[in-house]
Amino acid sequence: MSSPSESVGALSAMRIVNIVGARPNFVKIAPLIRAMTRRPAFVPTLIHTGQHYDQAMSERFFQDLEIRPPDFNLEVGSGSHALQTAQVMQRLDPILDALRPHLVLVVGDVNSTLAAAITAVKRGITVAHVEAGLRSFDRSMPEEINRILTDAVADFLFVTEESGRLNLLREGIDPAKIHFVGNVMIDALEGSRRQWESSSIFDKLGVEPGATYAVLTLHRPSNVDDPGALANFLEAFETLARHIPLVFPVHPRVKQRLARQGCGGGAATEPPDRLRSKGIAYVDPLGYLDFVALVSRARLVLTDSGGIQEEATMLGVPCLTLRETTERPVTVTHGTNRVIGSDPGRILDEALQTLAHPPRRDRTPPLWDGHAAERIVEVLDAHRRAKGSTPE
Ligand code: UD1
Repeated sequence: MSSPSESVGALSAMRIVNIVGARPNFVKIAPLIRAMTRRPAFVPTLIHTGQHYDQAMSERFFQDLEIRPPDFNLEVGSGSHALQTAQVMQRLDPILDALRPHLVLVVGDVNSTLAAAITAVKRGITVAHVEAGLRSFDRSMPEEINRILTDAVADFLFVTEESGRLNLLREGIDPAKIHFVGNVMIDALEGSRRQWESSSIFDKLGVEPGATYAVLTLHRPSNVDDPGALANFLEAFETLARHIPLVFPVHPRVKQRLARQGCGGGAATEPPDRLRSKGIAYVDPLGYLDFVALVSRARLVLTDSGGIQEEATMLGVPCLTLRETTERPVTVTHGTNRVIGSDPGRILDEALQTLAHPPRRDRTPPLWDGHAAERIVEVLDAHRRAKGSTPE
């Protein structure tokens, strides 16, 4: 681990503690750690809160994205939101005390993001939030609360799209704190293109080259926790599967719920011929490279995830978002995404319509060019030079 006295020329190096906890965080941190490591002016530390801990949900992403092992793992695991948030705070605090970083960087909108931001700000440490400003305007989503509160205490707010900037200004955030830098998820996607293009997932799943299929993901509490809501979705998916085979990588929180509905809850990946025989292949969660590869050749994606809306947009794959709102409107205005809600009849209609007339992506969202992490690091370096990196 780095010592607090490291220096670069006349200025001391900037000690940055980077926090990750859950699957989408790993994708976002990969290009940032890489960009920080390239500059001698930065001494990055990586802390994994342990919010996600299964091999498939965590370690696999570190391998796929070539992220170095974390310097600390807080091993908080699963629990209620309050417990998870509190445990991250409790376990992170003494580490921040010992490391005395100049800055804590958090990404995304998961419980670990909020917990780390609060812990840092309470210690008077500068906080940077990557993917700031996104708003679904639906406060029943835990992520929306995490976004609003994290942004309220952050000093650097790095936004991925224009809507983020406007939302923050509307909330009274000082414009000097807001930096429109693009999207680090896209840095990860483009940076690993060669690897995911050679994924062997198609062989593993028994998907023939050129096969027509759709990819499905579903894990939001509002969609899967209520058995009635989940049953409605399954009805729509089963009808759709008569028109196009679906591949459904199942998030662990959904597995038992599906089993209760009599499907997809098997102990392991269903055999590949499930895809051909029943129309829906329920598979274990996929690694990053396999998942992106699968999406890249799909005819359609159905999802309630945030990040997948962005990846589908970049890959030019039609995406139907199974929610009432999106916090990523640029994927609709510039991309291939449509927000269609949860009504089974509408899901089927929209899916068939989209398959018959796939939307085209005319424009890439501004600054989604694979260089967001470099812009972020440049902003932080300018701050370091201005401050001389004295611990604040
Ligand atoms: C979290 C994020 C969500 C993000 C998602 C990506 C919050 C509030 N939610 O949701 O924004 O889209 O990650 O996956 O932070 N579990 C395992 N193994 C694991 C992790 C989780 O089995 O490695 C199971 C446990 O039963 C756990 C449940 O999944 O209780 C939920 O995990 P949790 O981290 O609380 O939230 P996610 O639903 O994964």
